[in-house]
Amino acid sequence: MEKDMKKRRVAIVVASDSGYRGEREDQSGPEIRRIAEENGYEVVSCVVLPDEKELLTAELMRIADNGLAELILTTGGTGFSPRDCMPEATEAAAERMVPGIPEAMRAYSMQFTKRAMLSRSAAGIRGRTLIINLPGSPKAVRECLEYVIAELGHGIDILTGDASNCARK
Ligand code: MTE
Repeated sequence: MEKDMKKRRVAIVVASDSGYRGEREDQSGPEIRRIAEENGYEVVSCVVLPDEKELLTAELMRIADNGLAELILTTGGTGFSPRDCMPEATEAAAERMVPGIPEAMRAYSMQFTKRAMLSRSAAGIRGRTLIINLPGSPKAVRECLEYVIAELGHGIDILTGDASNCARK
């Protein structure tokens, strides 16, 4: 396959106690899938897990260490509930943090709701995989992901060795 035809793979991880128990239908995973596919990504998996740090960290590490996806998008578990632990799970899995992506999402989201400041979302790199936390609601997923997704490809290309510099067009 041509280098520029290579499809970027994304794995979706939903953190939700009620979704995991089957008490609430997850709408945010499908929303991520829709936006990712519209932007040329291949969705390789979508799992709903409870808000348990060790389980979430293990899933992030499993995907990255087996080279299953270049990008992991998570949703949920970024707020202040005592059970919310997605940023901590991401920090545990990541070797390098990428603060600019959640900073950008929060800054952009303030026009929609000032409660955007309450999301503790993080982003990091493990091996050749970029991990990004999105907040839990489908609306927040849409607002955050649609804003950042176009820039992710360049970062992923550098991470995977398909681009070596940021030369201006
Ligand atoms: N960001 C955007 N763009 N739009 C939103 O509606 N909701 C906020 C925030 N970020 C929101 C948002 C709210 S109300 C909360 S509590 C936090 O995300 C954390 O959400 P989470 O615990 O579902 O991850």
